[in-house]
Amino acid sequence: MAGTVMNSELSRLFYQRNEELFREGEWHREIKSLDLDFRNKTVLDLAAGTGHWEEVFLSLGAGKVIWQDLSEFFYEKAKRRLQGCDNVEFLLGDMMSIPLENESVDFVLCRDSIFHSPSEKRTVAEVYRVLKENGYFYLTFRNWRRIFREPLTWKSPLKLLSPYIYRITEKKLIHTVFTSEGFILSCLKKCGYKIERVSRVDSVSLILARK
Ligand SMILES: C[S@@+](CC[C@H](N)C(=O)[O-])C[C@H]1O[C@@H](n2cnc3c(N)ncnc32)[C@H](O)[C@@H]1O
Repeated sequence: MAGTVMNSELSRLFYQRNEELFREGEWHREIKSLDLDFRNKTVLDLAAGTGHWEEVFLSLGAGKVIWQDLSEFFYEKAKRRLQGCDNVEFLLGDMMSIPLENESVDFVLCRDSIFHSPSEKRTVAEVYRVLKENGYFYLTFRNWRRIFREPLTWKSPLKLLSPYIYRITEKKLIHTVFTSEGFILSCLKKCGYKIERVSRVDSVSLILARK
C-alpha cells in the first residue's frame, strides 16, 4: 500500500531534518531568491512530504497551497502540522497524475522528489498541463553525474547508495533512481517549457522553468 511507503525511521529523520531547515529559514531564503510574486497565487507542492514548505508560500502571500504526495504517513504528518492554516488543500496521489484542472496553478514546486517518479517525462508533462500560461515549475534534485565530481568523503558511498538503502528500508517498491540534470532539462524543453534558471549546490540541481 503506497501509504506505508515512508513509514520508517528514515522518514522520521527526514522530518527532523526539514524541521531544522524550516527553523533556520534556509528554504524561505531559497524561495525568496526566486524573486517571484506569490501574492494570491495558487501553489502546488508536488511530492510535498512533511508539509514544511506550505507555510513558506503562505507567508509570502500565496492564496492557496496544494499539498500532494502518495505517502499516507506524510499525509497525516502534514495535516497535523498545517491544521491551523487556512488555504491548504491535501491531495493523496502519484505525481504523474495530478487531480487538478488544466491551467489552474501558478507555481509548482517539486523538491527532492522527481527521481521517485516512475516517469520523469510524464510528471513534467502533467505539471505542464496544470500550470497556467507563464506559470513556473521549480525543481530541485540530486544530480548523479555531479556526485562523481564532488571531493570524496566518508559520505560519498552513502550518497551513491542512498536511493537503494531507501528502497530497502521502506520495504516497498518505491521507484528511486538518480536522475540527471541533462535528462530533466531535455524533458522540460521537449514539453515546451522555457528554462529560466539553472543553479547547483554541490550535487543538487535547481531548475526554474516557465510554461
Ligand atoms: C525526499 S522526500 C521530499 C519531500 C518534500 N518535497 C521535501 O522537500 O521535503 C520525497 C517525497 O516523495 C514522495 N513520493 C515518492 N514517490 C512519489 C510519487 N510517485 N508520487 C508522489 N509522491 C511521491 C515521498 O512520499 C516523499 O514524501
